Amino acid sequence: MKIRVVNGPNLKLLGTREPNVYGTVTLDGILAELETRARELGITLDCFQSDIEGELVAYIGEAIGRADGLLINPAAYTHTSVALRDAIAATGLPCVEVHLSNVYRREPFRHYSHIAPVSLGQICGFGGYGYLLGLEALAHHLKSGPQKAGRALKKDA
Ligand code: DQA
Repeated sequence: MKIRVVNGPNLKLLGTREPNVYGTVTLDGILAELETRARELGITLDCFQSDIEGELVAYIGEAIGRADGLLINPAAYTHTSVALRDAIAATGLPCVEVHLSNVYRREPFRHYSHIAPVSLGQICGFGGYGYLLGLEALAHHLKSGPQKAGRALKKDA
């Protein structure tokens, strides 16, 4: 099982970026923990970070036929990017959206996500631990099979 982990703009600055909001953990630190858990779950990770919207779109599109799911922190593009939303939808892959901070406790412009409607679910407010939760959720979804997951989605709709 293969999952693409996608990180958007400014996330390479984690560690020093607004530590009062995002803490002092670095992106490398988050990804190292994620890698350990992925190995335990029998999952291979492909990780990518970019500040450039088009590069993120291309990386997501290239997941078709190469990955089983997407774990994404789109950062600021969450709130602005129809292109990222369309890229995720085009893959048809299960996607989990992650944010370190609780975006709903922050400025109103962070309360809308273009990504949430094309995601299985969203995890926010738990710092780097949210990535681990997102990985667990994706693994559970993939292992429980599309039929079961499909039924659960229909029931909620
Ligand atoms: C973020 C939240 C976004 O609103 C912000 O633009 C980010 C980081 C988070 O992880 O909390 O860059 O995605």
